[in-house]
Amino acid sequence: MPGDGIGVEVIAEGRRALDRVAQVCGREFVFTDALVGWAAITATGTALPDDTIRICRDSDAIFFGAVGDPARDASLPPSRRPEPVALLGLRKGLYANLRPAILNPALVGLCPLRPELVQGGIDILIVRELTGGLYYGQPKGPHDIGGVPGAVDTMVYTVPEIERIARVGFAAAQKRSGRLCSVDKANILACSQLWREVVTRVGRDEFPDVQLSHMYVDNCAMQLIRNPGAFDVIVTENTFGDILSDEASMLAGSLGMLPSACLGDGDVTPFFEPIHGSAPDIAGKGLANPIATILTGAMLLRHALGWTVEAAAIEHAVEETLKAGYRTADIAGPGGSPISTSEMGNQILARISA
Ligand code: IPM
Ligand code: MG
Repeated sequence: MPGDGIGVEVIAEGRRALDRVAQVCGREFVFTDALVGWAAITATGTALPDDTIRICRDSDAIFFGAVGDPARDASLPPSRRPEPVALLGLRKGLYANLRPAILNPALVGLCPLRPELVQGGIDILIVRELTGGLYYGQPKGPHDIGGVPGAVDTMVYTVPEIERIARVGFAAAQKRSGRLCSVDKANILACSQLWREVVTRVGRDEFPDVQLSHMYVDNCAMQLIRNPGAFDVIVTENTFGDILSDEASMLAGSLGMLPSACLGDGDVTPFFEPIHGSAPDIAGKGLANPIATILTGAMLLRHALGWTVEAAAIEHAVEETLKAGYRTADIAGPGGSPISTSEMGNQILARISA
């Protein structure tokens, strides 16, 4: 599902990379195209047509570009725009959002932090709760208070919602450094007090081998730029995860580098998207960096299909391409000579091997 803006260009490259890895590893994909976002509104009147929902339900994974176009927003009320309708609609039931932020050694010069702060490398996994909190809580909307016009959003979390995302965070930490940092605002928010209590209990009862720490979200925002190397896996609620993952993405040098996965339990189709969005200002110009999407394809292989060898083949090809010096405009740096979206795709494709 390419969607809008640069989604079209980057999904084309992501798809070529998946086809190539299938070819060299003796696998086969069946792709079904589906409309989403403004592209779907233009064709059908809605950002998430029934056909698209059906195709998603019948598929093993959703490979998604981006939706959104601020220039067209005024033509529809907020509740019918692609972000709430398509993005939040497709994410329904997918409560675990994995957002890795890795600073590739070849791109250390692009990280806005001083070199000595990042010399040990940055490899952070943000596990963002994706289906609770302020985004979905009711009541929500315009709300007069004593006759004074206002608006309300509700932050709400249940114990099972916290338990299940905590388990994702602990399990991820187990596979990595064995350290998990849970981020909340327990000095003020009732949801956060419950969050801290539940995460602590799940850790004690189910993951005694993981070293758990807690951090307030404001402090976390500060520590991420003061000492990013200290972080490994972070687990946090929806809104905090939204904000901290954008912050962490800058540590990786460019938003154009970061993939993500939205996972659930049972039969909801998992959803994979680059985190950068539709970037209408550069759409259609061949300027977009396809790496986030190509790496998103690797996450799809690993998490939806369990094809770890194939996922690693893609990640390795991206690393080799960067090592060889190829750069799109966002990562070229001053005086660099950037290549186009499809040229970057070609270079990565040429390095995918079994
Ligand atoms: C993201 C985006 C979305 C979110 C918006 C577009 C609804 O910011 O994927 O981080 O907040 O989840
Ligand atoms: Mg965001």
